[in-house]
Amino acid sequence: MTQSSPARVFADRAEACRILAAELAELVASINASGRPAVLGLATGRTPLPFYAELIRLHRAGQLSFANVVTFNLDEYLGLSADHPESYHAFMRRELFGHVDIPAENIHIPDGTVTDIPAHCAAYEKTIRDAGGIDFQLLGIGRTGHIGFNEPGSPRDSRTRRVELDPITRQDAAPAFGGLENVPTHAISMGCGTILEARKIALLAWGEAKAAIVNEALSGPVTDQVSASFLQQHPDATFYVDADAGARL
Ligand code: F6R
Repeated sequence: MTQSSPARVFADRAEACRILAAELAELVASINASGRPAVLGLATGRTPLPFYAELIRLHRAGQLSFANVVTFNLDEYLGLSADHPESYHAFMRRELFGHVDIPAENIHIPDGTVTDIPAHCAAYEKTIRDAGGIDFQLLGIGRTGHIGFNEPGSPRDSRTRRVELDPITRQDAAPAFGGLENVPTHAISMGCGTILEARKIALLAWGEAKAAIVNEALSGPVTDQVSASFLQQHPDATFYVDADAGARL
């Protein structure tokens, strides 16, 4: 059965983030009201920055609490410790966790410094399962069509594992690292299978550089060459895009 992921095209990213943040605040409140923590899957990169700013604004306005929220990040660069400024641990502290009331023990991000990577990945999967699975997964999309760091060729049923970054992905990260030679070559990433088990998924994309891959992911064939195309088969996955990223839809 194939279901098409609906796309919601907004005038700009600020409006998209305002709407999605309000929807997420409502989801968290309703899950918390049912007597359990809300489990969120979170992304890093440039795309979620205005979304996290909006979550912080809602938190400060008393409209969103993270006191009963558990989070799992999609990925982390291999070889970067939590205090490296480009690590996703540092990113999350800087852009979201340092500004909201989330208990430290509720935060989960793969550790890029572990020696036994398979054991760490298996434990990450088990922690997600033990938390009851992910209620809401936030995604960006890479120019290779990756979600998480599931580069072309990542199987639909892949799980959290060590992955090699595509040259295009490393190029896109080069400015932040002050040059391609400083960009890690590998990462730990949730798999496509891990992501697709989330009950609700929102993929964000802004700007014309994402227009071609957004169109491919939504309207092209479902293929492991574009891991975001697997979202077409998810029962509740929505693309939130601005006018530029949605220009080819
Ligand atoms: C980030 C992640 C990646 C990014 C994607 C887009 O945790 O898993 O899939 O979402 O590379 O990156 P930006 O947002 O920087 O264009």
